[in-house]
Amino acid sequence: MAKQASFIKEFFKARRQVGALAPSSKFLMKKMIKPIDFSTAKCIIELGPGNGIFTKGILEQMNSDCKLFSFELNQSFYEQIKSEINDHRLTLLNRSAEDIISVIEEYGIEKVDYIVSSLPLTVIPSEIKTVILDRAKNALSDDGKYIQFQYTLNAKKLLEERFSSVKIEFTAANFPPAFIYQCSN
Ligand SMILES: C[S@@+](CC[C@H](N)C(=O)[O-])C[C@H]1O[C@@H](n2cnc3c(N)ncnc32)[C@H](O)[C@@H]1O
Repeated sequence: MAKQASFIKEFFKARRQVGALAPSSKFLMKKMIKPIDFSTAKCIIELGPGNGIFTKGILEQMNSDCKLFSFELNQSFYEQIKSEINDHRLTLLNRSAEDIISVIEEYGIEKVDYIVSSLPLTVIPSEIKTVILDRAKNALSDDGKYIQFQYTLNAKKLLEERFSSVKIEFTAANFPPAFIYQCSN
């Protein structure tokens, strides 16, 4: 309940950034990370972890030599995850997803295997979301995957313009129900 309350509070403080009134369900989390091959993944990037539901799910399955970089722009969510998760494989950044390329360069990462994004593309201004998606595509390895959920099909065109394959799944087991986009370079 405290998690739900923190979401509502952050939503009303910054609705164009948070984009949701409630954290995602465990069911959606499992669907979002299902395409990840944890036996081979060495670097995963998460965009918009909120209060960390996907972060925890990813860390639970990640190998010890895999790195997770999570970009959270909202200071309160960032502080919340920082106080709850202490894991040497996680680099939590209070930075925008726009910094994805500078961060992988700073950390000497050559290849990003998966990007798991909860960014609310519908409310993020057009000039910012196009920059984020272009950089996300460039950060991914040739066989990498960009996985994104949204509450509408509005992002379909934006993603199809960039990725050679975009598969869409739907789940009603979330509030609100969500579409999961699985994109390959
Ligand atoms: C819909 S919430 C999803 C939170 C969580 N992953 C979940 O599914 O419950 C979107 C998150 O994206 C974050 N966000 C929005 N714009 C961002 C940006 N440019 N860079 C990093 N995080 C951003 C928001 O602060 C918020 O935590």
